[in-house]
Amino acid sequence: MTLLTETAGSEWWRSAVIYQIYPRSFADNNGDGMGDLPGITSHLSDLASLGIDAIWLSPFMTSPQKDAGYDVADYCDVDPIFGTMSDFDVMLKTAHTLGIRVIVDLVPNHSSDQHAWFQQALAAAPGSPERARYMFRDGQGPDGSLPPNNWDSVFGGSAWSRLTEPDGAPGQWYLHLFDESQPDFDWSNPEVREYFEGVLRFWLDRGVDGFRVDVAHGLIKMDGLPDYTPDPEGGSMGGDADDVPYWGQPAVHEIYREWHKLLATYDDDRALCAEAWLPTPEKTALWVRPDEMHQAFNFPYLVTEWDAVALRRVITESLRAFPGVGAPPTWVLSNHDVVRHASRLALTADNPQGDGIGPKSQGKPDPAVGLRRARAATTLMLALPGSAYIYQGEELGLPEAMEIPDDARQDPTWFRTNGERYGRDGCRVPIPWQSGAPAYGFNDTGASWLPQPEEWAGLTRDLQEADSESTLWLYRTLLAERRERGLGVGTLEWLEGFGDDVIAFRNDAVTVIVNIGAAPVQLPAGVVVTSSGPLEGAQLPVDTAVWLETV
Ligand code: GLC
Repeated sequence: MTLLTETAGSEWWRSAVIYQIYPRSFADNNGDGMGDLPGITSHLSDLASLGIDAIWLSPFMTSPQKDAGYDVADYCDVDPIFGTMSDFDVMLKTAHTLGIRVIVDLVPNHSSDQHAWFQQALAAAPGSPERARYMFRDGQGPDGSLPPNNWDSVFGGSAWSRLTEPDGAPGQWYLHLFDESQPDFDWSNPEVREYFEGVLRFWLDRGVDGFRVDVAHGLIKMDGLPDYTPDPEGGSMGGDADDVPYWGQPAVHEIYREWHKLLATYDDDRALCAEAWLPTPEKTALWVRPDEMHQAFNFPYLVTEWDAVALRRVITESLRAFPGVGAPPTWVLSNHDVVRHASRLALTADNPQGDGIGPKSQGKPDPAVGLRRARAATTLMLALPGSAYIYQGEELGLPEAMEIPDDARQDPTWFRTNGERYGRDGCRVPIPWQSGAPAYGFNDTGASWLPQPEEWAGLTRDLQEADSESTLWLYRTLLAERRERGLGVGTLEWLEGFGDDVIAFRNDAVTVIVNIGAAPVQLPAGVVVTSSGPLEGAQLPVDTAVWLETV
């Protein structure tokens, strides 16, 4: 069965490999323990040599950092902890000179409570135009002391907080789907729409190549804000129900149609990528219909377990759904919100997205199994047609940091659930560059906003650079071969006869076989292009993937 032929166009984002930089943890130039823009600039040539096409930067805009920058106080400026606007311009120019496109994060669902608009809203009266930019409501009950509805915050606790009005009286409530420091905008207000068009233009005029749009399924809330009790199995950011009154409301698509038109007035194929946690590729594809966004993260793929049947199913569905609307499929295994895939794929207990792993978690993975599976999973992912996302540090095979002490934790999830859910700190730890150096070369002072695990001493980039069997070299080889063989714009054809536990397909001239079973698999004749681990003669060991050139 042949599944994907070329999608409609030749724009760069249809087949790009996009590397996510989490600025806090990538490289720290000034030694304060927090990564920064000059740190990024200084390592762009390392990314060019890795072979990626673009970078996406998590937010570096002005922010009190209550949610690691996803709480923006000024959308058109750089937070001093990351540097200055001219540091940004230098970074952008350097990236472009190296042939790397740059995508920035846009956070339109909510601002920080320190945003000028929210501060004005607090000072203004109920019913005022200042309050109409956010979701203020009166409380329920005779004295308004109950929240307006029963919605929970993604990070735990109620999604509503109550104000004390300027005169000292208990006042209205405001909605925050995330932390209480992240009030939701009211996107039915045209002023909010106009404001964000200005923000888009600001960054487009500076020369960015696109936006990753945060919580792109959340901007519009159902009229009347009806009560809703989420499916406990649904994960914090999505869920299966079609009737979730704050995710995936149809009117959200109008916003992206407007943005699509706005981007089209610029040259050079600027792109929008939706962070929309939806349960199926089919639903996710609604965000990338021809007049909407250009890409959407394939979270149904990310959450699929290490299981051949389930992976085949989600790949097939993705290759139908995205090209079905003229969009490229995308693939992603790790990001700053999920347990790193070198750990996640070997967990032995359920771990809902966003909960994280900490000292007391059950089902911790065997690190060797995790790494073997992660290498195989990436070897599979980078053979798939479409665009792929890589999260900083996965090219080093980094596992989740699972032993962060309680008093070092930073994720609001940890605080809002009184330590019941660890949250996402374990995938956000500053990455290791150099063995034997302070903070493993993250900076030269040894400071680090989250503690780095001791085991990372053996995973630094310089050590891996010198070892041709390393995960770094595996990524480099995969990226080079993918580019040279045009796999990103290829055609996938499933191969039969390898058994249920094996994934086998051809992407043009490359045959890809992944053994997810319990016994070695006999390989067909062919020349090995690369493999995620050593082969045993003509046998493919378990948890191993291979690319073969067959005739
Ligand atoms: C997105 C971000 C996550 C953030 C949340 C609220 O899911 O990826 O890190 O906490 O939105 O902005």
